[in-house]
Amino acid sequence: MPVFRRGSSVTSQLGLSDRIFSTAEDRGLAAGIDAGIDQVEASLLAEVTFADEIANVTSRYLLKAGGKRVRPMLALLTAHLGSGNHTDVITAATAIEITHLASLYHDDVMDDSDKRRGVPSAQTVWGNSVAILTGDLLFARANQLMARLGERAIRLQADTFERLVLGQLHETVGVQPGQDPVQHYIQVLADKTGSLIAAAAQAGIIFSNAPPEFEQPVIAFGEKVGVAFQLIDDVLDLSPQPEETGKVPGTDLRAGVATLPLLRLRERAPHDDTAATLLERLERDVMASNGVATAAADSAITALRDHDVTGQTLAEAHSWARDAVEALAPLPDGSVKKALTRFADTIVERSS
Ligand code: IPE
Ligand code: IPE
Ligand code: MG
Ligand code: MG
Repeated sequence: MPVFRRGSSVTSQLGLSDRIFSTAEDRGLAAGIDAGIDQVEASLLAEVTFADEIANVTSRYLLKAGGKRVRPMLALLTAHLGSGNHTDVITAATAIEITHLASLYHDDVMDDSDKRRGVPSAQTVWGNSVAILTGDLLFARANQLMARLGERAIRLQADTFERLVLGQLHETVGVQPGQDPVQHYIQVLADKTGSLIAAAAQAGIIFSNAPPEFEQPVIAFGEKVGVAFQLIDDVLDLSPQPEETGKVPGTDLRAGVATLPLLRLRERAPHDDTAATLLERLERDVMASNGVATAAADSAITALRDHDVTGQTLAEAHSWARDAVEALAPLPDGSVKKALTRFADTIVERSS
């Protein structure tokens, strides 16, 4: 199963060195993406630096803990429809990854999550206020980087961030009377996760001076692949392998966030006794437990993972990934399109 893993070449994670990527153009793209990722990594280390020793320590903490760099990778891929690893592309990819990093500091406070990227989450080390302020500092830095690229970049950053925050807000306040729970949920995923992934794909086009008619197809691709990515994340949240995910299993449900497996279970419960019993256990032992880890909570989470609704969620993630690939139809055939297709496949096959 292809997984994103730090420490190995990013392009080998994407499978760009596989046999189907055998042309000179494919090899050139693979080398370009690898070189671009090295540049983004160096740029991240250089830019996540503050004139304050405490801010330096807290902001570099999660940066250095790992991360798959999915968003920069996507920006670099679409940039190869234009001039490739242009310095503006590297700057935009860095700003987007820093925005993502900032959102993780805030997200772990909101979800009361103990672990992130395999290490204790920032607020468990320094408390909520320092974690929130560190996220704010990182947002400021991402905005400063985008400002170097001009008004269009600033607007992209602000629009994207607004959507991301509205997604988190709508997740937090939950489905409202009269709204369809699944529709509400998918909109949350598109906003909180799809928006930034779509922005990464769009930035690659804009800042490499690729043909502007490629913008809409890659935005649609990014948004749909983002929904697929978050659906898989929600299934991985039920995973019993914290060493792979770097997170605590069941964090979403313990934080009261009803992800798609649970929503699908709720749909089945009225006419399926097994579903109804499991739903009762989850609501009583997990969602109403205030995050207290008990054997009953662990066993209910395992039962949900093994239930058909989780398979159904995986199938829905695959369907979003297929739709993402269909959105690429207007792009020219070639290495970038092949690699974006592989990117979508890798996203839904990942285990970390
Ligand atoms: C985690 O994103 C938050 C989501 C939007 C699901 P990633 O899975 O990309 O996190 P890192 O950067 O690899 O840690
Ligand atoms: C968070 O989604 C998405 C953002 C940070 C905007 P999750 O809450 O599912 O992310 P994880 O699972 O904690 O990484
Ligand atoms: Mg979270
Ligand atoms: Mg999650």
